[in-house]
Formats: sequence, structure tokens, C-alpha cells
Amino acid sequence: MSTKVEKDQVSGRETTGHEWDGIKELNTPLPSWWVYVFWACCVWSVGYWVVYPSWPSATDYLKGAFGTTNRTQLHETMANVAAERAPYMERLAALDLSEIVNDGELLNFSMAGGKAIFADNCAPCHGTGGSGNPGFPSLQDDAWLWGGSLDAINETLHVGVRWDANEDTRFNDMPAFGRDGLLERDQIDDVVQYVMAFTNRATDAESANRGAVVFEENCASCHGDDAKGIQELGGPNLTDAIWLYGGDKSTLTETVTNSRRGVMPAWGGRLDEETIKMLTVYVHSLGGGQ
Ligand code: HEC
Ligand code: HEC
Repeated sequence: MSTKVEKDQVSGRETTGHEWDGIKELNTPLPSWWVYVFWACCVWSVGYWVVYPSWPSATDYLKGAFGTTNRTQLHETMANVAAERAPYMERLAALDLSEIVNDGELLNFSMAGGKAIFADNCAPCHGTGGSGNPGFPSLQDDAWLWGGSLDAINETLHVGVRWDANEDTRFNDMPAFGRDGLLERDQIDDVVQYVMAFTNRATDAESANRGAVVFEENCASCHGDDAKGIQELGGPNLTDAIWLYGGDKSTLTETVTNSRRGVMPAWGGRLDEETIKMLTVYVHSLGGGQ
């Protein structure tokens, strides 16, 4: 075995002395720039783990010279935000809704906060900005099921609608007239024609006339004699061409046959009082506040 370093004829490089079938392995060192960067990184890492949190221990971890972590930074930021909001929150808690609406600064604060909270909690059902979806009322118009005053909105938010878990929930169930055999099929057709007549869309005037009687006997108690709705009962106005579920013949027939019973969750207890006030002010401002 020779210890003499052999040189490759073609490249002029040293070989490692390994040879397979006449092919010799060159001993090509790493480029020096790479080696310098590597050692620089090693040195840097030592500094890094002294300054920042690094090594785990059995129960804890090395905190680093200044205790900086993203988590502590986040806590600081959150604490700052809370501190900035605290005076507003105190005033929100102390004032009643009409006072809040009349306080320009507090109104702005509630509108900004309410908008964000609405997007998180309400928009999935009520649509972006409260524009509504089939079965989920628009909160931008002035057609209200349960009332559009500040107090009525606040109450709806607290107790929900048909929300069993809340014993004060707003509640009124339209019977399933067809499914439960309260009306015959042709009576349903008649009353649907009558309802369509409110918005000038009846296709059979005689049927609509017969429907007027059916309406008076079966529907007026919740929707009003004039069919303009009864807010204490959550009975929608059927004359305003604003439909929660839809005003075409087949949708109306479905509503009367099987009823709908939309459910709105109660937010009292889930959101704090100040947050519900902000939401109330925001919803009230959307366009239809009464
Ligand atoms: C799971 C779906 C759902 C969510 C989430 C939801 N709602 Fe509703 N909301 C409804 C339904 C359905 C109704 C209509 C109930 C009925 O038939 O009377 C309603 C009714 C309302 C009403 C009464 C409207 C009127 O005309 O009287 C208000 C106000 C309201 N929601 C606000 C909110 C706000 C604010 C939030 C968020 C904190 C929210 N809702 C979240 C489903 C939802
Ligand atoms: C006990 C009260 C009650 C009675 C009686 C009642 N309704 Fe309703 N109705 C309601 C309520 C509450 C709603 C709200 C929707 C829901 O249930 O989610 C409603 C909704 C409707 C809707 C849907 C409106 C929309 O915007 O899409 C129609 C249509 C309707 N009722 C027609 C009738 C007709 C026709 C009768 C009589 C055959 C009748 N209702 C009887 C309470 C009643």
C-alpha cells in the first residue's frame, strides 16, 4: 500500500486512492466559500440560541437573554389593544343603546367593532353585511319579523328565535297546514293564490277569492287581517314583496304545506353584553333601523 498521493493526469487533482476497474476517485474539496459560510452559520447559531428561546429542557426551555418570543409579543399587543378599548367598553357597558347611538365616538367604535363581529358570527347565515339569504332575513331593509327598533334587535340577539336552549327565546310556529292535514290541497292552492294577489301575481282570481276566506280563518291571527304582519308574533308581512323563503307559487305552497320554522341562535351568554350592544347598533344602522 503506497502512502504517496497520486495525481489524476487529466484534471491534475489528487485522488483518494480508491480505484474501480481503472476508474479513480478524485479528492475534490468543498469550495472554500461554502466552508466559510458553514462555519459562519455555526458561530451565528451560538449567538442566536443565547438571545432567543432555544434548547428544550426536561420541564421547560431556555428562555433566551431577553425572553422575546412571538407569543410574548402577541400578548403585549393584545394587552395594548385591550387597554385602548377599555374606556370604550366601560362606556358601552354604562350607557343604554340610544345614548350610544347619540355619542359620535362610541357610535364609530361600535360600528367598526360590530362590523367585524358580524362578519365572524352572523354573515354565514345573514350574508355579507347582512344582505340576507333564502331563509335568513336581510338585515338591510326595513322589513322586520320581530321589530327593527334598537330594543327589539337587542332582544332578538339575546334570546334568539326558536332557540330551545333559551327559555325566553322568541317563539311562534306556523302550523304545517298540509302535512298536518289542517287544510285540503285545494284550500292551500286557494290561499296561495290569495297571497300572490297581494303582489298582483294571482293567476286565478276565483281561487284567490276563495283563498281570502281561508286566510281570514287560518292565517290572519299571525299575519294580520291586512296580511301586513304582526311583529309581536314574528309573522311576516306578506304584502311587501320581500320574501324570506320566496314568493313564487311552488315556494309558497311548500311554506304553507310544511311550514319553515327558521332558527336563530341566542347570543346572550355567548357574546358579552358590550359586544351585543355593538352588534345591535351595527345592525340597526344597516339601513332598516326603526
Ligand atoms: C344559524 C344561522 C344564523 C346565525 C348564525 C345568525 N342568525 Fe340571525 N336569524 C337567523 C334566522 C333563521 C332568522 C329568522 C328567524 C325567524 O324566522 O323569525 C334570524 C333573525 C335575525 C334577526 C331578526 C330579524 C327581523 O326581521 O326581526 C336579527 C336582528 C338577527 N337575526 C341578527 C343576527 C346577528 C346580529 C347575528 C350574529 C351575532 C345573527 N343574526 C346570527 C339565522 C341566523
Ligand atoms: C301561528 C302563527 C302563524 C299562522 C297561523 C300562519 N303563519 Fe305563516 N308564518 C308564521 C311565521 C312565524 C312565519 C315566519 C317564518 C318561519 O317560520 O321561519 C311565517 C311565514 C310565512 C310565509 C313565508 C313568508 C316569506 O317571506 O317567505 C308565508 C308565505 C306564510 N307564512 C303564509 C301563511 C299562510 C298562507 C297561512 C295560513 C294558511 C299562515 N302563514 C299561517 C306564522 C304563522
